[in-house]
Amino acid sequence: MPQIQIRLAPLRDRSYTVTIRSGLFGTLPRRLAHIAGGGRIFIVTDRHVAPRYGRVLLKRLLHLGTDAILLTVPAGERSKSSAMALSLQSRLLRGRVKRDSLVVGLGGGVIGDLAGYVASTVLRGIRFVQVPTSLLAQVDSSVGGKVGIDHPAGKNLLGAFHQPVAVFIDPRFLRTLPAVEFANGLAEVVKIAAALDAEFFRSLELLGGRITRSNHRLLTRLITRAVGLKGAVVARDEFESGLRKSLNLGHTIGHALEASTGYRLKHGFGVAIGLMAETRLAVALGLTAPETAVRLENVLHLMHLPTNAPRKIDWKTLRSSLAMDKKGDARGTAFVLPRAIGECAIGVRVPPEFINCIDMFLYE
Ligand SMILES: NC(=O)c1ccc[n+]([C@@H]2O[C@H](COP(=O)([O-])OP(=O)(O)OC[C@H]3O[C@@H](n4cnc5c(N)ncnc54)[C@H](O)[C@@H]3O)[C@@H](O)[C@H]2O)c1
Ligand SMILES: [Zn+2]
Repeated sequence: MPQIQIRLAPLRDRSYTVTIRSGLFGTLPRRLAHIAGGGRIFIVTDRHVAPRYGRVLLKRLLHLGTDAILLTVPAGERSKSSAMALSLQSRLLRGRVKRDSLVVGLGGGVIGDLAGYVASTVLRGIRFVQVPTSLLAQVDSSVGGKVGIDHPAGKNLLGAFHQPVAVFIDPRFLRTLPAVEFANGLAEVVKIAAALDAEFFRSLELLGGRITRSNHRLLTRLITRAVGLKGAVVARDEFESGLRKSLNLGHTIGHALEASTGYRLKHGFGVAIGLMAETRLAVALGLTAPETAVRLENVLHLMHLPTNAPRKIDWKTLRSSLAMDKKGDARGTAFVLPRAIGECAIGVRVPPEFINCIDMFLYE
């Protein structure tokens, strides 16, 4: 069974294991009971995941004699709010949360971010386990310890670094994931390969259409590779002072597109278009060869992901959000741009004349 150890320096006692196995859900109650060690388990999930997996998990935990509670929130990004965080914090406090309690985030990236944020704040931080059920959460958001909620001023503006004590990934969860959410997660897989690993990218080019929600053997390999790459980056740069920024490839323009479409564009779709637009920009700046853009476009098409921005965009929001990107500083927005497939440049200051004609890079 693939196990990836995330060793965080310098406090190695915060290191944790990501376990990836098809069918892992069957042994999850026992594993969680072991980690909880008698402390109460608060399972946080959403209304789509609760009837499929949450209630079964609760039943099996109770059957084992474990003290557990299921807390369900509405599905979707709107639950990543301070109102929902407060509601969960209150439910934990009413549920007599203690320092030995365990929060389990069972769901997609929204649940992982929200449950992790709540776990990081209640009683100054209690233990947290990630059980990601969407592809995006399995390959990206469940590993790395970034937790948070949205603010009316922008997405993910409130949060913390709060590493989980363990991550359990079962690719079988993806059988019930809607196709559009599967494609959404594939965008992050393409990003990880494009940013860090030319060989992985090559295997995506070759595998293409064989990557489906029910091909668990292939998914296990794919997720293991993506998590291994992300884990290695996080272990070297937990707080994103350098190397970890490379995981923001596609995200500067991606986030701006999400904002400029009033968040109707899914994160992964924004990232796919962002990857493409940032690569076209890198070609224009002479940073990468035109072939990089051709190969990226082919892979994104194989994954049924968009490569051009939607026509209905609020351009003012797009430009101001590019200027305000939280990864930038007083000197302007710092881009992560590809140098080649599997290699990127961090902190590239893009001249304003290129930002002013950003539309040139959003469409082919
Ligand atoms: N913390 C990080 O490092 C990080 C990284 C990337 C993205 N994110 C965050 O992740 C969020 C997006 O995550 P997401 O795409 O998983 O969204 P999501 O959590 O909203 O899940 C997408 C949809 O799929 C449903 N779902 C999840 N698993 C399912 C399953 N197995 N079967 C059926 N339905 C299922 C959910 O109920 C939801 O409707 C964003 O808020 C983004 O900011 C965080
Ligand atoms: Zn992302």
